Amino acid sequence: METLITLKSIYKTYKLDSQEVDALRGIDLSIPKGAICSITGPSGSGKSTLLHIIGTLDRPTSGVISINSTNVATLSDQMLSVFRNCTIGFVFQMNNLLPEFSALENVMLPGIIAGSKDEAVRERANFLLKSVGLGHRASHRPGELSGGEQQRVAIARALLMAPPILLADEPTGNLDKKTSASIEELLMNLCHENGVTMLMVTHDPSLASRLPNAICMEDGKIISTSLI
Ligand SMILES: Nc1ncnc2c1ncn2[C@@H]1O[C@H](COP(=O)(O)OP(=O)(O)O)[C@@H](O)[C@H]1O
Ligand SMILES: [Mg+2]
Repeated sequence: METLITLKSIYKTYKLDSQEVDALRGIDLSIPKGAICSITGPSGSGKSTLLHIIGTLDRPTSGVISINSTNVATLSDQMLSVFRNCTIGFVFQMNNLLPEFSALENVMLPGIIAGSKDEAVRERANFLLKSVGLGHRASHRPGELSGGEQQRVAIARALLMAPPILLADEPTGNLDKKTSASIEELLMNLCHENGVTMLMVTHDPSLASRLPNAICMEDGKIISTSLI
């Protein structure tokens, strides 16, 4: 099967004043195209750091990462942000929606950043809002939506550019059980329908067990994987 994401000997050390924290200590990983994979492990084991590095939001201290056959280390910061905008969608625990903008405008944002035609972006954003069940709330601001609805808007925003990769960090972490189940189902369906490769950090073992693939981390290392 085609490999979409490759990490070779990735290390990440954070330097705070004179203290160093080794957040990732030698990660080797190949993620096949179309994988839907959980990332689990104790708090502080490096899950978010790994997701940030795969998401090109942060650069590793050493090691090579290649996404969609692009060695991302070779891209300038400016090229990287263009690459990121079309290749990777993010869904975080805190949805980071802009409070001053409507749901529709929030979903449109990646398209506006990319400089796409306003009408085409608006049409796709409306389509996505409908597909996450929020067609009727397009003009509402995030503050007027429930936590689950806000997360649906964030998912629609993440998918606007039709990225091949979706990275989710505890996307259901702030939600009650029922809402969490509906968000999980939505994410799974959208990934299957669109052939999206998804990595999802979760501390919920039962959620992790429902995903076809798994990565377990401990102390900055991968201790086990089940990847096709
Ligand atoms: N920006 C940062 N600066 C310094 N240390 C950090 C930073 N981000 C994370 N860390 C440290 O790196 C380690 C891994 O953190 P993180 O990736 O957030 O773990 P997890 O998501 O598994 O809880 C932790 O010891 C954490 O304190
Ligand atoms: Mg984390």
